[in-house]
Amino acid sequence: MIVLDKVNKFYGDYHALVDVSERVEKNEVVVVCGPSGSGKSTLIRTLNRLEEIDGGTISIDGREIHAKGTNVDRLRAGIGFVFQHFNLFPHLTVLENCTLAPVNLKRASSSEARDYAMTLLEQVGLAHKRDAYPNALSGGQQQRVAIARALAMRPPIMLFDEPTSALDPEMVGEVLGVMRSLAHGGMTMVCVTHEMGFAREVADRIVFMSEGRILERAKPEDFFANPQTPRAQQFLADRRRS
Ligand SMILES: Nc1ncnc2c1ncn2[C@@H]1O[C@H](COP(=O)(O)OP(=O)(O)OP(=O)(O)O)[C@@H](O)[C@H]1O
Ligand SMILES: [Mg+2]
Repeated sequence: MIVLDKVNKFYGDYHALVDVSERVEKNEVVVVCGPSGSGKSTLIRTLNRLEEIDGGTISIDGREIHAKGTNVDRLRAGIGFVFQHFNLFPHLTVLENCTLAPVNLKRASSSEARDYAMTLLEQVGLAHKRDAYPNALSGGQQQRVAIARALAMRPPIMLFDEPTSALDPEMVGEVLGVMRSLAHGGMTMVCVTHEMGFAREVADRIVFMSEGRILERAKPEDFFANPQTPRAQQFLADRRRS
């Protein structure tokens, strides 16, 4: 579904992605991990063209997304993206946050969009907050609304960049729970996360990055039991210690 072939990316002189090649199959859940600064966010942001690339190709469903003439708005409308900092619209209610894009971009009727948004809000456990404004919600609740809002566009792919790392610890579980049920429902997902318990339990595959390169790709049981490179061994040892 997603194919990266020798992707390279520079920030000025800094080589942020070095010959990154990878495939994500339909219904697959891939967790990207690695030390700070290794290029995880850069990589995931190239998948919906929040970052441009300087070499190589990225195809989604056979279409080269960095090719000239790609309709970036349409591309992004088909890929759900949830960041570390929930960026809900503060002046819109929970329900309005979830219906705005489908109505504006896809021209779903507003009643259709509302019905589907309510279904999603029920799935993330927040139907009762439909009329609340984001600033009246906890961080975990806001992040669950952000996920519902992304899902409202019915994207075939969901990208997550450390969706729980800005949350108080007691709220991490509720967000991971929503991600877990999405994964079990067959969503194709690429997740950057430091939640190794989630990775172990939910990921089909772990991709380990260091200094802009993919150093390892493995099934979680293999990655955790038997990391191949000193960098991955060190990374896992550091996480166990903290
Ligand atoms: N807009 C930018 N301009 C210049 N350098 C950047 C930019 N964005 C990222 N970088 C650099 O590229 C490298 C990779 O950054 P990236 O944010 O992808 O890392 P990361 O693996 O997501 O790290 P973290 O775990 O801290 O989020 C870092 O060295 C970073 O400083
Ligand atoms: Mg990052």
